[in-house]
Order: sequence, then C-alpha cells, then structure tokens
Amino acid sequence: MTGANCAIRGTFFDLIDDPWKHAGHEQEAARFIQDGLLVVKYGIIEDFGPFAEVSQRHSGLQVTHLPNRLILPGFIDGHIHFPQVRVLGAYGAQLLDWLQTWIFPEELKYRDRDYAATAARYFFDALLAGGTTTCLAFTTSSPVSTEEFFEEATRRNMRVIAGLTGIDRFAPEDFLITPADFYSQSKELIARYHRQGRNLYAITPRFAVGCTAEMMDSCRRLKQEHSDCWVNTHISENPSEIRSAREHFPDCTDYTHVHEKHGLLGPKFTAGHGIWLSSDEMRRFSKAGAAIAFCPLSNLFLGSGLFRLGRAKDPEYPVRLSVGSDVGGGNAFSIVRVLEEAYKVGMCNNTMLDGSVNPRDQDLAEADRNKLSPYRAFYLATLGGANSLYLDDMLGNFDKGKEADFVVLDWMAGQAAMSWHQSLAVEGDGPETMEQAAQLLFGIMTTGDDRNVAETWVAGSRAYQKAGA
Ligand code: GUN
Ligand code: ZN
Repeated sequence: MTGANCAIRGTFFDLIDDPWKHAGHEQEAARFIQDGLLVVKYGIIEDFGPFAEVSQRHSGLQVTHLPNRLILPGFIDGHIHFPQVRVLGAYGAQLLDWLQTWIFPEELKYRDRDYAATAARYFFDALLAGGTTTCLAFTTSSPVSTEEFFEEATRRNMRVIAGLTGIDRFAPEDFLITPADFYSQSKELIARYHRQGRNLYAITPRFAVGCTAEMMDSCRRLKQEHSDCWVNTHISENPSEIRSAREHFPDCTDYTHVHEKHGLLGPKFTAGHGIWLSSDEMRRFSKAGAAIAFCPLSNLFLGSGLFRLGRAKDPEYPVRLSVGSDVGGGNAFSIVRVLEEAYKVGMCNNTMLDGSVNPRDQDLAEADRNKLSPYRAFYLATLGGANSLYLDDMLGNFDKGKEADFVVLDWMAGQAAMSWHQSLAVEGDGPETMEQAAQLLFGIMTTGDDRNVAETWVAGSRAYQKAGA
C-alpha cells in the first residue's frame, strides 16, 4: 500500500477487543493513551504508545501535535448507497414505495458519467467530513457508476468495498440489468478494480425482491470464481419486502435461505438491516461467519423497525456487526449520528422486552446487550465494523502494521460544547482517564454530529480539515 509518513501526538482512544465479551469490565476491551504518539510510515502504523516511550525509539520525527482532541480510528460505514447522495430526506414513504418513487429514478441518472463523477466527489467529501474512512457501498446497475466510485476512491487512496448492483425485476425496465450482463460486467469490474490500490470488490445482488433466481445464480457463479470478493445485499428490512421475497422464492424456508441456497451466506457476506430476522436465522448468520449492517437512521426514517441488537450479540451465537448510515434511506452521513440512533433503538428494544407488549422471541438476558455504551458504540464503528468485513487485520484500531486512517474529534464543537460532559474534559488537558474519555465520547455521540469531526486522516495524510479547525 502507498501512503504518507507522519507522527501524531495527542490523546488516543481505540478498541482492542469486543466490549460485549467484557460485560461489566468494558474498559478491558479499550485502550486510552492520554499523551500518545502514532508513528506512520508509507501509510502504515509503524509504532504507537505513550509519547514518552515511543518518541525515544525514533529520532528526527516531525511531530504534528493535536491538543484538545480525541483521536480514534477512522469510522467504518458498513452499508451506504453512493448514488443516493442527492436524495436524502424524501418525505413520507416506506421502503418499497420509496424505492419506486425516489430511488430508482435518481439512480438511473448514474448512467451519465459526469453526473456520477460529480456525485462521487460529493459522496467522498461527505464521508470524510463525518470521519468515515472506509465504506461498503452500493452503486447502481450501470457500470459507469461503479467505475466513477472506484476512480474517486482511488484518487483519495481510501479503503473501500463496492460493486455493480444487480437488479433484474421490480424496477423500471431501463434500470434492470440481465443476469448475463451482470455476470460479464461484474467480471470486468473485478479485473479492473479488485485489490487495485485500496479498492475491494463486492458481488452485489441488491435484494431478493429485485433478483430472479437467474440473477442469484450469476452471483453464485461470481462468488465461486472470485472467492476473494465480498458479497453485499439487503435482508429482512421491511415486512412488505419480506412477504414479497417469500412469494418470489417459494422454495426457500425463509429470507436467509435464499442466500444459503445460492452459496452466498458465509465469510465476507454482509446484509444490511436484518431487522426481522428470526433468532434461528441469526444463529445461521453466526455459524456461517456472515455479517449484518445495523442501520438505525434508515430503519427509523423509513419506519422499517427496531433491529434486535441484543439478540444479534447472543454470546453463544454472536453475529458480526457493523453500523451503516444507509444514505439515502438514512438521512445523514454522520456515523456519530448513526450511533446516537443505535443507542435509542437499544433503549426502545428494552421497553419492548416487557413481555406484555412484545410478542417477539426475545429473552430478558438481551436487555443488557441492547445497551449501547460508548465502548460498544465506537467498537461497532471501528474494530467491530472491520471484523464484520474481515478487514480487522488491516483496519479498526492503532495496532502496529495496520493502515493509518483516523479521525480527530473535537469535543468543544457544535451542541456537544454545551453538554455537561464538557466538565470531564478540562480545557488544555482533555480527559485524564479512560472512563472520562468514554463518557465524553458518549456525549459526542448523543449530542454531536460532523461538527465534532475536526480532521480526518487517510493512510497517513490529512484528507479533511473542518473550516476553522
Ligand atoms: N433494498 C433494496 N434497495 C434498497 C435501498 O436502496 N435502500 C434500502 N434501505 N433498502 C433497499
Ligand atoms: Zn441500503
């Protein structure tokens, strides 16, 4: 990988393990270094630790000091739609209507190279302004959109995963792609972009409602022939969608079975939403090593439902999880805002756990697992997201050898500046203990947004700096 050299001094917070495995002792899963030094060579972390120790091991470093900031690994968005950057906030429809009314007509415009190229610039600018350095993205059924996505990501040297998005039914005729074209165009795109620079390719059946069995067969063949590629899709998002998928694949016992039957459920498979998956389906995800992207902004905006976070984190059958903005079903790019909504979903799940209200097969042990502490939240946005994508050997925290993507948070910006959490961060010194840092992060995630992102660094280079920061 190519990247820059840098040495960053400041206050660092990252996760080194899954905090759900350390219930009651979540600090064991985190690392806090009040005065730390991160040494980066060619975009890779060469050294990391307390400034007093690390600076001794290196001579002649040009150190960039970032005081009054919390430095975290770059955020990972596990589910986002590049061609929806211009349609956030469309009023009043649920999933299937919303797709037909707003989304397919907009995505059709991405056959035009200039339209797609301009959007790609907006898209990556918006990601970086929110502190997101990696995403798993949908494009459209036109290869032009996929090319422009990867070209812009390449210019920015960002670690991204995306792929041509297959749909051969349930959309206007000119938006559909045949299974044969999808297969051959995906192969061309894989040859051109997969593992070129930091680009990775995802075979992308949009969702079972929009894919015939022939399209799913094309995906199966692609995965067999390119087993190193990722798979990205949607699953069990909305009750009408699920009914339609069940009618469309009558020989499948449930929605997950569609992907099992076509050889896709396994490592490097991510499905967005998964709100209405049964406990049995979640267990099958867990056993297969497949992942769900939890997209609370979108799940609430489109009225799709409350994801059963605590169930997905069943210690016997834990499902790999990321968080996703799902722009434009999600109404913001900001992962900080995604975490805020994720927290609220967990809280509502616990109200629903009152058995008199909720007929779902939840058990009370889920209640604690639904609670999104700052350790858990920022785990999902960093190391957990990396783990869900099988990228935790290269991303997710400040371990040596990993890629140096990071976000620099300002606790004094935006609404968070007014919060009582401020008293934890003494001006000039910042948080002094891990617990103070975690509480400050909780304040940022529940009252903050992109205004709290002062800078975003990609492969050792500053890729975004907030005006005036
Ligand atoms: N299911 C199929 N396509 C989409 C999409 O674009 N957004 C969401 N949220 N769900 C989908
Ligand atoms: Zn989506």
